[in-house]
Amino acid sequence: MNLLDGKLVSAKIKEDIKQEAAAFTAETGRKPHLVAILVGNDGGSETYVASKMRNCELVGFESTNIRYDVTISEAELIAKIQEINADPTIDGLIVQLPLPKHINPDTITEAIDYRKDVDGFHPINLGRMQRNLPCFIPATPYGILLMLDHYGIDTAGKKAVVVGRSNIVGSPMSILLARNTNPGNCTVTLTHSRTHNLQEEVLQGDIVVAAIGKKNFVTADMVKPGAIVIDVGINREDSPATKSGFKLYGDVDFEAVSQKASWITPVPGGVGLMTIVGLLKNTLEAAKGTIYGRS
Ligand code: GUN
Repeated sequence: MNLLDGKLVSAKIKEDIKQEAAAFTAETGRKPHLVAILVGNDGGSETYVASKMRNCELVGFESTNIRYDVTISEAELIAKIQEINADPTIDGLIVQLPLPKHINPDTITEAIDYRKDVDGFHPINLGRMQRNLPCFIPATPYGILLMLDHYGIDTAGKKAVVVGRSNIVGSPMSILLARNTNPGNCTVTLTHSRTHNLQEEVLQGDIVVAAIGKKNFVTADMVKPGAIVIDVGINREDSPATKSGFKLYGDVDFEAVSQKASWITPVPGGVGLMTIVGLLKNTLEAAKGTIYGRS
């Protein structure tokens, strides 16, 4: 078993981003600027947004975290998004998901200017991604591609099985792995809660991407010997033994599956760190205007 080491790869790519950000700042007199909107007090979301902000500072970006009480209305949130869309000092905008039930995430996603949509969730970015046109790619799948690329893993012609069809990970991952790109060129199966014989499907995978949000869901009897296993799960459980008060588990039973896999990502220290890298790369591209130009 070889480890796909998110710590190592993310540190290396962040060093490159830092240098590019410094060059951008030297040229323009300003830093790339990411705004993250956080609604409510979800524990996971608080941790993720804090980490995104911290990493922006680390690579020399400006970052702003705007927080709202869970009671904010959809109209108020949209008004703020429109203000940010029109602000030329802001390059990228993300609204952390999940949102409270009274706010429609699709309405919010479409309210964001697609040229600042560094999450790559806007239908224009998704459509362009599917057509293999320049666009913002959702951060987690982007990070996974960067990881595969770093280790020189040849994905062409391989069978990839994605477990979970979320808008954030599973669905875009399935599109990206099927594209005529490198990494890519896989034969992709997208499995979900209604899939028959899930075990048989996952057993076909030369590459398995687990993104369902269930602790240790992918077990050793579901994985083909020699498979490349990407674990997207970040499942938090309370643990009095740790400093933070919780412990993280992936969607893959790492102990057992690592005995069979040729490559595997750990949790923590795998995909989560690469998601941040994907977001930072998108923010830098937004600032430079490499995809959509700058107005
Ligand atoms: N919630 C879980 N992952 C993500 C992400 O990549 N972006 C946003 N905005 N919310 C998330």
